[in-house]
Amino acid sequence: MYFVHPMSSRRRFIKNVTALSLGTQIIPIVSCGLEPNASWSAIADQFFKDKQGRLNFNTGSVGMMPKPVYENYIQLTKSLASYAAYEVKDQSEDYSLAALESLAATVGAKKEDITLVRNTSEGINFILNDYPFQPEDEVLISSMAYPYPHYTLDKLSALKGIKKINIDLNPASDSDEQIVHKFISGITSKTKMILVTHFTHREGQIMPVKAICEEAQKRGVEVLVDGAHAVGQFGVDIQDLNCNYYVSSLHKWMYAPLGTGLLYVKDQNIPKLSPPLSYPGKLQNDLSKFNYTGTVPFQNELTLQSVLDFNEAIEWSRKTQRIKELQSQLIEGLKGIPSITIMTDPKRSCGVVGFGFDHIHPAKVAPAYLQSYGIHCKKTKYKDIPMLRATVNLHLLEKDIDAFIEATTSITQS
Ligand SMILES: Cc1ncc(COP(=O)(O)O)c(C=O)c1O
Repeated sequence: MYFVHPMSSRRRFIKNVTALSLGTQIIPIVSCGLEPNASWSAIADQFFKDKQGRLNFNTGSVGMMPKPVYENYIQLTKSLASYAAYEVKDQSEDYSLAALESLAATVGAKKEDITLVRNTSEGINFILNDYPFQPEDEVLISSMAYPYPHYTLDKLSALKGIKKINIDLNPASDSDEQIVHKFISGITSKTKMILVTHFTHREGQIMPVKAICEEAQKRGVEVLVDGAHAVGQFGVDIQDLNCNYYVSSLHKWMYAPLGTGLLYVKDQNIPKLSPPLSYPGKLQNDLSKFNYTGTVPFQNELTLQSVLDFNEAIEWSRKTQRIKELQSQLIEGLKGIPSITIMTDPKRSCGVVGFGFDHIHPAKVAPAYLQSYGIHCKKTKYKDIPMLRATVNLHLLEKDIDAFIEATTSITQS
């Protein structure tokens, strides 16, 4: 189901643009560097290699900008540095809006309902801090959520007297039906919002967001989706999910420049949110009220089109399929090693593998991966169960996955 991408049925807004004329300025649009149906090794070649040959198995934290996106970003930064930056931005407004429109189509949203923010953390903060919560209002959040929204809700509990209700989930052992049931059973007459993670950060589990939204909407409860990892990894159709708010970090799986995030707010929810930073009153019903944050790196927004071009040249569903294949190869290889426990459910995940060792603490082995095998992966834990997280992505090839499996075999034997 999640291989279906909303974009595949929609029209592209900008295609084959080679250069954008901006008065005396030219904003260069770099070719996406990929032939149609490019091989996976040709695609992997579009990512920079580490000078020391180290392999990055942690693009879940931050994705890698491919060369064409990087080139575009650098050239745009130069354009901004060569002339009056606000002029360049203002003159490129149509171009930026068209890119945003393409992004909206990509995630199945109306263009008026999305805007760029810096990242998921900022977007979640915007929604939670700007929502007109009253004392005693309840917000449900699960134990599998990223820690950051927990902190925001703790802060709001202290400041506004809201109640954070923790929904205790067991990754892998809870079925989707049980997850939905646990959330919905937590709803009371005081519940205002559910915060649900689309793809969990430790074990990489795709949560039953659509079913949670459906049940929540029936009960008049709003849903905020933390989609930090979802956009760019697998197809996301926000209107089909029918959530009220959706946030993602495009610098993860979309390969956008650092500090590029997506914020979606369903049109009817926009007026009631009050950003703490001031904005013209006429924008009360307009999502751009969130963009009154002063001068920001304009090049991020201007690079968006090349980000979309690169992903579309690969084809969204093909990209997801490839990530799944790399994940399967890794899971199968790790399964063959005695004393390894896989914590990721392959049927409900995509590019992440969480795993633990029977007799070794992951905190001890993570440095060994790097020092002895030149592999960077992430140590993490869930409910005091320590684990390692390996993220696979298009810069990796089968031989790199084999290298990870061999390193793990050696580590468990030593
Ligand atoms: C599920 C989840 N939510 C939110 C975030 C925060 O993302 P960012 O640092 O881009 O704001 C992360 C980061 O890894 C995450 O995994």
